[in-house]
Amino acid sequence: MKKLTILSLLAVLPILLSLRYTPAAEDLIPVPASVQQPGDAALGYEYLTTGDFLKSGVPYSYFIMANGKNTTNYLNRSDRNANVGPGYNVITHDGVDMVIPTCLQCHAETFEDKLIIGLGNTRLDFSSTSKIDVSSQINVLRTLSPKQYNKARPFFDAFTATYPYMETEVRGVNPADRLAMVLVAHRDPQSLRWSDAPMIMIPEQVIPTDVPAWWLMKKKNAMFYSGFGRGDLAKFLMLSNLLTVSDTLEAREVSSHFGNVLAYIRSLEPPKYPGTIDKVKAEKGRVVFNDNCSRCHGTYGADGQYPNLLVPLSTIATDSLLCYGVQQSKPFVDWFNQSWFVQGDNPAQLVPFNGYIAPPLDGVWITAPYLHNGSVPTLEAVLNSKLRPQYWQRNFSHDEYDINKPGIKYTALTVPEAKHCYNTTLPGYGNMGHYFGDALTDDERKNVLEYLKTL
Ligand code: HEC
Ligand code: HEC
Repeated sequence: MKKLTILSLLAVLPILLSLRYTPAAEDLIPVPASVQQPGDAALGYEYLTTGDFLKSGVPYSYFIMANGKNTTNYLNRSDRNANVGPGYNVITHDGVDMVIPTCLQCHAETFEDKLIIGLGNTRLDFSSTSKIDVSSQINVLRTLSPKQYNKARPFFDAFTATYPYMETEVRGVNPADRLAMVLVAHRDPQSLRWSDAPMIMIPEQVIPTDVPAWWLMKKKNAMFYSGFGRGDLAKFLMLSNLLTVSDTLEAREVSSHFGNVLAYIRSLEPPKYPGTIDKVKAEKGRVVFNDNCSRCHGTYGADGQYPNLLVPLSTIATDSLLCYGVQQSKPFVDWFNQSWFVQGDNPAQLVPFNGYIAPPLDGVWITAPYLHNGSVPTLEAVLNSKLRPQYWQRNFSHDEYDINKPGIKYTALTVPEAKHCYNTTLPGYGNMGHYFGDALTDDERKNVLEYLKTL
């Protein structure tokens, strides 16, 4: 009898041990793959960097007058596109040349003076958008160039309706979810027509996010941090088009290019770590990673597997406001799920989830700051929650990246200071949760960090 008890104890011991580090399997929900539109990556790149997915923008001559000519030409473009930064395209409609903002405003950033397409831009400043007033410039345009003004009007209308609502508490975080929500509120779900008055309630708070790296999309079955974007993913890329779209005819034309844009996004590879990697430590780190992390984040290398798992808030415990407050907002989700976007045999759909998707970690060395709200400046601090600064300040004026930590060089402050200081005590800006690295020893953490640099 006694023997049996010891034997049965021995039998459950591995289970007990494994429970200590890994959550129960039933907590984690796999997202199934869905059929995607066929697409041509080269055509997608062409459309992204020269295309007219918005048909209205700032008249070219006014744009150049206000901003001067951009001289970097990172994208090596020709003609007038060479004179505007990589986040803008020059388009011509009815004889009017206009400048439109593109995806690369938010989805490209420089590193060591090279533009990396797909790297989230963490230097944009949305912290004082309510103070931006372009009404006098618009009036000048209306008086002096009525034809240009008429073409630019849909853009100015959308700009003035959305920009004041996009103000974030600190610089460096992104209000794209908010933008989508405000645009949706001003559009009829079926005809997509603009209404000056919002038609659905817009939640009060602006919840900030980081910008996810595009090269992860080739592995992901769902889009956005809570994984609530499902089905025909190219359709979600169209959401920015709601800024100026005039009707469904135009939406259909623009939409016909987004299969190509998605194919381009899914063709991107993460940038390689530029420093030297300690191979012995990295190999030890791989073992620790596979024991503690790969269950959610997958395995890497030639036969790597990414499991596409949704992790509930009860397990991940990171800031809940994005998945809970924003990505489950009923008016927003209902609008989308009954809209023009969900037509066809293989529709796009929003499926809210109370938690976050465990992202692939390819190229994670360069995607600081970390967690969905960009609240943790270094990878070292993701793995050791005691090192996470409550208030931290960075330099936005040039690349301030520490490839050894790796992460953003920052100064920890004892009190929050103005808008250039990340304040993790604000709602939506919290740096709590994801405590999986805390259970490791210092050596194990160092080795895992070394391994993460190889991904
Ligand atoms: C104002 C900044 C901004 C612009 C402009 C923008 N995006 Fe994004 N994008 C974001 C942010 C922020 C997220 C993450 C939102 C979330 O999950 O809550 C995101 C998410 C995505 C994702 C999902 C990535 C993932 O791993 O889930 C894709 C793909 C994407 N955007 C493509 C595009 C394309 C294509 C365009 C242009 C047509 C575009 N975006 C324009 C900020 C922007
Ligand atoms: C139970 C599943 C789970 C386990 C185990 C886990 N993670 Fe995560 N991890 C997540 C989720 C979910 C997120 C996204 C959380 C968020 O952004 O709020 C995340 C985020 C991260 C990020 C930030 C990514 C970014 O771009 O912001 C890193 C780095 C990371 N995990 C590394 C690790 C390492 C290393 C381990 C092992 C020590 C580990 N994780 C264990 C689920 C997990």
